[in-house]
Amino acid sequence: MMNALKICVFTVLVAAFYSYVSQMVPQKVTYPPEETELGADMTTEELVVAGEEIASGKGTCLTCHTVSGDTGGRFPDLANIGLVAADRKEGFSDVEYLAESLYDPNEYIVEGFLPGMTPISDPPIDLNDQEILAVIAYLQSLGGVATVTLDTELRWQSEENSAAAAASQASAAAGPSAENLSGEELFAMYACGTCHSVTEPTPLLGPSLYNAGNDFSTAELYEAIMDPDAVVAEEFTAGLMSAQLNATGFYDKISSGQLKTLVDYLAMQKGGS
Ligand code: HEC
Ligand code: HEC
Repeated sequence: MMNALKICVFTVLVAAFYSYVSQMVPQKVTYPPEETELGADMTTEELVVAGEEIASGKGTCLTCHTVSGDTGGRFPDLANIGLVAADRKEGFSDVEYLAESLYDPNEYIVEGFLPGMTPISDPPIDLNDQEILAVIAYLQSLGGVATVTLDTELRWQSEENSAAAAASQASAAAGPSAENLSGEELFAMYACGTCHSVTEPTPLLGPSLYNAGNDFSTAELYEAIMDPDAVVAEEFTAGLMSAQLNATGFYDKISSGQLKTLVDYLAMQKGGS
């Protein structure tokens, strides 16, 4: 059920991305998303810069939102969000409203818009509490003044979330973690090779990916993995790959860093030329 929902949301996200491209609206989303480094002693101004980077990269915010002042799009324009946030919800400060709209977007639906945003703290976007603080600083700066720091406490921050972040930092310090696996290792770990060859043009249960780097853009590879049923390769069975990846918990486990590594790995496969 959760996975069906996720796929559904990704369909919306990817569809929104392509509809933007087709309208040639200038935007600067990077696909696949990139990681932004956050340091404990960053000033609010530095957080704003980092938050902007996260919003256009790993956070994938700009696949849906514009920051142009041009209202009337399908998603709320965020150019003045730092100004209006404090007045959106009775009893909520700007920071509280912004936090809720990221951790719990469906608690409050902006007038004139439909629900359609997933909690940013959950997979697949999966920003941690620190990254969300940076994004909040950036949002505050849009038409307003940023005040948050990495020490700002919010009631949406989960112990689980910070415990997990601490654990992953500890394991990164201890040596190679899943985060440091190569694309080839990820391909093996998630059993992509059961259905796809990267060395031979011969199809297995799925099409050969030995020439994926020539056949597809990185955005197409990203979509093919996150939403396999959006475009089904000719003569192959729809639903097979998504069923398998759902069953193995791929969409819950994959981080955006790993996804980037995996897409980069496939983009390097140029066996056909
Ligand atoms: C799949 C499309 C999508 C993505 C991705 C997305 N949003 Fe949204 N967002 C929406 C929709 C739809 C709404 C309006 C419905 C609602 O209020 O939940 C919204 C509402 C908001 C609001 C409230 C705006 C207002 O005027 O009060 C904020 C703030 C916001 N999003 C920030 C973000 C940020 C920051 C990110 C990235 C971390 C992000 N969104 C990613 C679709 C998206
Ligand atoms: C159970 C078999 C199966 C597994 C496991 C599987 N796939 Fe697929 N994959 C398919 C099938 C079938 C298709 C073609 C139908 C479609 O496009 O959904 C496909 C399509 C693709 C495509 C698009 C290729 C094209 O020619 O359009 C890419 C890229 C891809 N898979 C990558 C992956 C990656 C990366 C993994 C591991 C994380 C993976 N697949 C795991 C069966 C699988």
